[in-house]
Amino acid sequence: MSDYQGPMRVLSGIQTSGEMHLGNYLGAIRKFVALQHQHECLYFLADMHAVTVWQDPEQLRRQTLHIAASFMAAGIDPETATVFPQSQVRAHAELAWIFNCVARLGWLDRMTQFKDKAGKNAERASVGLYTYPVLQAADILVYKATHVPVGEDQKQHLELSRDIAGKFNHDYEKPDFFPLPEPLIKGEFGEAGARIMSLRDGSKKMSKSDPSENACIFLRDDADAIAKKIKKAKSDADALPSEPDGLEDRPEAKNLVGIYTALSGKSSAEVLVEFGGQGFGVFKPALAELVVEKIAPIGEELRRLEADPGYLQGALRTGAEKAASIADPVVREVKDIVGFLT
Ligand code: AMP
Ligand code: TRP
Repeated sequence: MSDYQGPMRVLSGIQTSGEMHLGNYLGAIRKFVALQHQHECLYFLADMHAVTVWQDPEQLRRQTLHIAASFMAAGIDPETATVFPQSQVRAHAELAWIFNCVARLGWLDRMTQFKDKAGKNAERASVGLYTYPVLQAADILVYKATHVPVGEDQKQHLELSRDIAGKFNHDYEKPDFFPLPEPLIKGEFGEAGARIMSLRDGSKKMSKSDPSENACIFLRDDADAIAKKIKKAKSDADALPSEPDGLEDRPEAKNLVGIYTALSGKSSAEVLVEFGGQGFGVFKPALAELVVEKIAPIGEELRRLEADPGYLQGALRTGAEKAASIADPVVREVKDIVGFLT
């Protein structure tokens, strides 16, 4: 429960565990860019979440700067939105401990991402991987964020954040303390981009960990690499249908049309009016041209920013100070509510 009356505040984070790809861009980063002009926004690099599975330290540092550079290359302005590494704001870890004592084992047992990531050998997974969604709740609530732009796969974690906020408010009889944060899945772009699938298998999410190098378009890819991956993308032998219904049971075709839709801003009905009846020999080059037009310039800017790690680190430190100035007073209040000496 919550009677929270505070201001709207947007927050999201991305794990610093790999290269940013088209799915991250369409499902997350692009929404972040649009929202920064409309609301107060905080975007962080989830390095503490990344280490729930093994990360090589040097690579982790590099990846953290890579995500920061990807954000900025895609159009997030660090003067407008607050951009920072999670580990540089200690309030996240402090609130996470208290939330570990609020969340129930049964709630965490239901988390499908843990089951997917831990696999059959759950006993050998880190404890951090299990309690990952609790840290995520702390990330959000330590800023009393009200809205969280994420891809569809994060819905369950957002529900858990709401459960934790509600139980805290209830148990400590502070019904207006934490908001119940809402996921922003649809955003300005409708459903398009909420779930981009692998280019090699339309039933699997596009993911940086896909073993096939052609499954995933990275923001770093240049025009040639993008065009090659789209050319090799799995499709089928039929022509495109003239209406969206005709894409059911054709996961690869549906995904490629979905990518076109998300990047062109047209609806899938409109795209199919244009391409219905055509085969992939016509559609793929048009798609490649569109992806190159929208993504290759981001890749260029990304490489330019990565060549200046000093600038990136300075911007992140400033962001962390701004973030801490919001989060520290919240943690102080929580400690007082819980009964810790102040
Ligand atoms: P991850 O790379 O899994 O840490 O995800 C970072 C953000 O990108 C989250 O908001 C995800 O929901 C989103 N995301 C990741 N993969 C995809 C995908 N294939 N399609 C759409 N959104 C995605
Ligand atoms: N779990 C999110 C993901 O994998 C990343 C994340 C961590 C996050 N903390 C968050 C997203 C807080 C939104 C809000 O994508």
